[in-house]
Amino acid sequence: MSQLQSPRGTRDILPDQQGLWQHVYKVGAQVADQFGFAPIKTPHYEYASLFQRSIGAGTDVIDKELFLLKHRQEEGEENQYALRPEGTAGIVRAFIEHGLHLKPQPYKVYSFVTNFRYDRPQKGRYREHTQFDLELFGDTSPFADAWIILAGWQFLTSVGLPAQELELQLNSLGTSAERSAYIEKLKEFLQEHQTELSPDSQVRLTSNPLRILDSKDQKDQQLLDNAPILTDAFGQTSKEHFEAVQSYLQTWDIPYNLNPRLVRGLDYYCHTAFEFTTKGAGGQQSALGGGGRYDGLITALGGPDVGGTGLGIGIDRVVEELERLNQYPVMDAPFRIAVISNPATRTEALKTLKQLIEHGYAVTFSEKEGFGSQLKQADRQGTTLAILIGEEELAQNTVTIKNLANAEQSTIQKSDLLAHLKQARQL
Ligand code: HAM
Repeated sequence: MSQLQSPRGTRDILPDQQGLWQHVYKVGAQVADQFGFAPIKTPHYEYASLFQRSIGAGTDVIDKELFLLKHRQEEGEENQYALRPEGTAGIVRAFIEHGLHLKPQPYKVYSFVTNFRYDRPQKGRYREHTQFDLELFGDTSPFADAWIILAGWQFLTSVGLPAQELELQLNSLGTSAERSAYIEKLKEFLQEHQTELSPDSQVRLTSNPLRILDSKDQKDQQLLDNAPILTDAFGQTSKEHFEAVQSYLQTWDIPYNLNPRLVRGLDYYCHTAFEFTTKGAGGQQSALGGGGRYDGLITALGGPDVGGTGLGIGIDRVVEELERLNQYPVMDAPFRIAVISNPATRTEALKTLKQLIEHGYAVTFSEKEGFGSQLKQADRQGTTLAILIGEEELAQNTVTIKNLANAEQSTIQKSDLLAHLKQARQL
């Protein structure tokens, strides 16, 4: 460590930057509740093999970005840990481990997950990021996919992102058999143009050909204009599933673009795959979130034959987008009370302070000399009311209440204080 600074690709979110973050967390929890998702928390690290088996070798997330923890001799190499790069694998592991398929289905959970990916840091791309993650188990219907997308849409618009700034990219990846057959066709097509492909795509031609569809390279994209299309190779069931998802979205007026090149960076998806994007600064597309169906994943990890579908929305990017669009929510100012005293009345003031805390009020207190400086400090801390206890109040069993917004004040019996505050809080 040459300098005292946070590690590359990580950030501190200081108290004065917390407003939007807390707002986004709050809306996330509300929307999850609206849609029937219960909170879950899983560890920040898991056995590395869990991620390898679910996200898939050959993906960037596993091959290039996984934070492997140096394993201890006594743990054995097969027990190596990794910081989680995403939330789904750990939640699926918990679903299997705790036999949650025996609970009433569909089983719906949400989590705010902090993830770690050894990415090249840039705006919107960090080595530590947070996602709002929704997972729905035990329902293989198109409705479940549409329900997840609706929840994501509701979250993004409720946090304050204008609907016209959002785009939903939609694709279907079919079944694994359909995908395998398609990959062969795609490979055949690309092999004919191998030398024209970007170096990255040439490597992927053997490691993960489907991901070439996702290439940002312009020449690759031109080539792909003539490539075979995955959904063209679908059987009846996959076609119907995809059409049904679209029909729900149409009923709900959620606009979407069919994007046959959307393949996602994680290998566990089948059928529905989607991303919410925004034009972002400089008109550059940026993915705010994404998800899809992952029916084979639970069995692949040794669990029951239960389907799953879910979504992860990047909170870091959502916050940056709200800032860019100047969408600051109106926050409720907390109802905070200051207790003002002098050395002679301090004991009484401290007792009052404790009483207020016990009744759930936000408080502030200072032992500064003089009412004036205590009131000034209270004002700086966004206090609504000040309770003044001087010698006269102490002698007469009263308190003086001062409204810091308009400087109005009145003296009341101490025994009436709580009733008075209750009324004031409701105004
Ligand atoms: P993902 O597309 O890899 O999906 O990530 C979801 C979102 O997390 C991205 O769209 C982006 O907003 C945010 N994100 C990803 N990486 C970074 C990064 N390095 N820095 C900042 N933000 C980032 C998943 O992770 C899946 N687990 C989603 C899912 C849940 N699918 C089914 N269930």
